[in-house]
Amino acid sequence: MPDAHPPTAEPSNPPPQGSAGPPGNLEFDPIDPAPDDLDALIIPAGYRWTPILRWGDPLFDKSPPFDPESPSAHAQELQFGYNNDFLAIIVTDRLGQAGLLCCNHEFTNREIMFPPSASKAEEREALKATMAAQGLSVVELERSATRRPWRYIRGAALNRRITARTPFKLTGPAAGSHLLKTADDPSGRRVIGTFGNCSGGTTPWGTILSGEENFHHYFVADPQAVGSDRYGLRKVSSVYGWETIDPRFDATQSDYAAEPHRFGYIIEVDPYDPKSTPRKHTALGRFKHEAANIRIGADGTVAAYMGDDERFEYLYKFVARKKYRPGNSASARRHNLQLLTDGDLYVARFSGSQRPGNDNLGQGAWIPLTRNGESAVPGMRHTEVLIFTRMAADRVRATPMDRCEDVQPSPQTGKVYVACTNNRDRGVDGEIGPDAANPREKNKNGHVIEITERDDRVDATSFAWDLFLVCGSPEEAGTYFGGWNGPVAPISCPDNFAFDSVGNLWIATDGAPTSISKADGLFRVPLEGDERGHLVQFLAVPYQAETCGPVIHDRDESVFVCVQHPGEDGSWREQLSYFPDYVKADAEPPSGAWRGPRPSVVQVTRDAG
Ligand code: FEO
Ligand code: CA
Ligand code: CA
Repeated sequence: MPDAHPPTAEPSNPPPQGSAGPPGNLEFDPIDPAPDDLDALIIPAGYRWTPILRWGDPLFDKSPPFDPESPSAHAQELQFGYNNDFLAIIVTDRLGQAGLLCCNHEFTNREIMFPPSASKAEEREALKATMAAQGLSVVELERSATRRPWRYIRGAALNRRITARTPFKLTGPAAGSHLLKTADDPSGRRVIGTFGNCSGGTTPWGTILSGEENFHHYFVADPQAVGSDRYGLRKVSSVYGWETIDPRFDATQSDYAAEPHRFGYIIEVDPYDPKSTPRKHTALGRFKHEAANIRIGADGTVAAYMGDDERFEYLYKFVARKKYRPGNSASARRHNLQLLTDGDLYVARFSGSQRPGNDNLGQGAWIPLTRNGESAVPGMRHTEVLIFTRMAADRVRATPMDRCEDVQPSPQTGKVYVACTNNRDRGVDGEIGPDAANPREKNKNGHVIEITERDDRVDATSFAWDLFLVCGSPEEAGTYFGGWNGPVAPISCPDNFAFDSVGNLWIATDGAPTSISKADGLFRVPLEGDERGHLVQFLAVPYQAETCGPVIHDRDESVFVCVQHPGEDGSWREQLSYFPDYVKADAEPPSGAWRGPRPSVVQVTRDAG
C-alpha cells in the first residue's frame, strides 16, 4: 500500500520554455476525426491502450465475480461502479510505483446494464444495484517502474466504494438548517449517499472534490415547493425509479420534503482514510455542480472555481476564509480539511464587447452572494443563499451561460478556463439571446472562455476575459481557434479539461453532433506562444461514448481517459459491441449471454512501454 498520508500530486511542473517551444513532451501524429459508428478506441500510431478498470471489476478480496445476468446490490458495492466520469491519478510513493485512482460514477443505464427483470422482486434488486453502481471509487494502483502501465490492486487497504447509501456529513453555514431536516435526519447534518457525480478536482491537500450534478433526476417532488421550479424538480416518476424502493426519493411526502435540498453540493473525500466520513460543503452553494477546482494564491488564499451545467445557468467562485497551510504535517492537514467549510461565494457577470480575434479583452465582475458569513443578496437569508443558490444568483443579475462544465485554473499561468459545452436554446423562441461571453445563437458546438483575475489574485472581484475557442468545424463561419490560422481538428462540446507538463490544455468532448462527426474525443491545444490555438486530436471513443476525466501523466508519457456510456442506445445487441475489448481478461461469456458495453478507465501508453 502507499506510504501513509502523503498527498503527493504529480510533481510540480516547470513553466514552458520560450514563446514558441515544443508542443509538449507527448509527441504523436494527430488522428483524423472518427466516423459515427466507431466500434473501437482510436489512438495515434505508436501507442497502445489498456483498460485499467471496468464496470464490475472486483475491488475487494470478497468481491463476487462480475455477473450482469444476476444484478446484486451487495456485489456492486464491492465492485467498480458504472459510467466513470471524473478521474484522478495520484502517485503516492517516491519511486512512482504506487498510486491511487479516484473515479466518479455519474449515472446508470439500467436498460443496457442488466437484462429485463422477470419479477418485481428482481427489478427491486436491479434498482438497488444501480444505487450501488453510482458514487465514487478509490482504488490502489501499482506498477513495476515509472512509465509502465498501472494495474489496480484487488483487496488493497485504501480501496473504497462510496455509493448512494454511504453516510455523509454536511458542513458549513447551512448544515443544521430546518431546510435540510427530514424524518430520518432531524439534525439536518447527516445525509445518506451521493449520486449524479459528474466531474471533480484534486485539492493541493490531497483530497478529492466531486460535483453532484443532475440530482433532480432522482426525485419525485412537489412542483409548487420553493426551489422546485429552478432546480427542475417535478411531480412525475423520476428518471431512475428509486422512489419505488426507497421512500426518501418521494419528496411529495412531508417526511422527505427537504430530501432534494440535501443533494447538489460539492463533496470532499479523503482517499487516504477509507474510514473517513465524506462531506458535502454547503458553503460552496447548491446547484447542478459539474466540478470544483482549486487555485492557491501567492499569499495562500484558496479559491474554488465551479460551473452549473445547465442551459442559462451560472459560473461561480468560492473564496475560503482561512489560508492554505503548506506541508503534510497532521496539523496542516487538519487545517486544510476545513478550508471549504467557511468562506464567501461569488457569481460571475460578464461585460464588454469582446469578439473573437480582436485585441480587446472583455471585463467581468465576481458578484458576492455571501460576504463575511452573511447573505449579500437582498431578501434572502444566508442559509437560503446556500441552499437555493440559483435563485440568489438570479437576483444579482449574473450572466446566464452556455452550460459551464469544467472550470480549471492553469497550473502554469493561473488563467482560468471555462468549458461552455453547448446551448441549443440560446436565442431560440424568446429565450435569452447571444451576448459577448456566449456569442452564438443555438450554440451547438460550445466554446472555451479564458479568464485572467485582476492582479492575478484568486480573491479578485473583477477579471478580464477572452474567447479562446469558438468550437465547430474550422470551415464553419464564426469558429475561432485562439488566433491560430493553420489547420486544426474539428471539435464540438468541450466538457473536461486537463493540463500537461508544459501547460497545454487538453479537452475531452461530450455530445459532438453529426455536423462534426459522432465520435467524441480528446484534443490538445497550446495556450501560449506561437502555436496558441493549434488544436489536434489525440483519441476518439466508441459510438455514443463521451470522453471524460483526462489525465496527462508521467510528464506526458501517458494519457488516461474514462470511456463513459459506450453504446447506450442498446443497439450493440443487434449490431456492434461498441467497445470490443469490454470482456478482456474475462472468461469468454457463453453465447447469447447478456454482456453490454462496459464503461472503462483506459490508459494510453507508448508502444515501447
Ligand atoms: Fe455530467 Fe456536466 O456533464
Ligand atoms: Ca461533464
Ligand atoms: Ca457533458
